[in-house]
Amino acid sequence: MNNPETFNPESFNPKTSDPKTSLRVPVDHLVRELRACPASAFVDIYQIRALLQQMPVEEASLVPYLTWDRQHYTRNLIDKTDLYEMMAVCWEVGQSSSVHNHRDQNCWMAAPIGKLLVENFKVGFQDIEAGQCQLTASNTVELSATNPCAVDPREPVHRVINPREANQRAVTLHVYSRPFDSCVVYSPEQGTCGDIQLHYNTMFGKPVSN
Ligand SMILES: [Fe+2]
Repeated sequence: MNNPETFNPESFNPKTSDPKTSLRVPVDHLVRELRACPASAFVDIYQIRALLQQMPVEEASLVPYLTWDRQHYTRNLIDKTDLYEMMAVCWEVGQSSSVHNHRDQNCWMAAPIGKLLVENFKVGFQDIEAGQCQLTASNTVELSATNPCAVDPREPVHRVINPREANQRAVTLHVYSRPFDSCVVYSPEQGTCGDIQLHYNTMFGKPVSN
């Protein structure tokens, strides 16, 4: 007779398992999978999102990429090819990004540490040269170890928040395809927008002097 406590790989369902304890992989494994993906895998949002869902990353393997700054979240490059870049973003309690876009590139996010919010915005109009825009908040989704997100290419303006109430540092993994080094930031309150350059705080575990 079967013992119900016995682990049965036949009935093992990764979707319902707790990635905090059972399924996590070192970040190198995720890098290997991403590097094995053809260009076509990055064209729509589904394949990479499924990969992030299947391969939650273990915290210990991220240690070389974790840096903290009380003034601003940090961007820490883990891997970069012509097709994609992946970085760890480290958030102190209460830190958030500006409202921004991704230069028409696809973006996927996972949160190996913490529970964050992604607030999405609808763009009524934008005139980057004039620095003017009109944005309205749409929906908010939770980003956590069990719930990686893809940015909706039809509504790609958003901000990420590590809520003060969560009361913990958070780490998110971002995959961008293709890599980009500038974006548009928006102030929904003031109706203004403009280009900014993006920088890494560390690359491959080493500090960058910006
Ligand atoms: Fe973003």
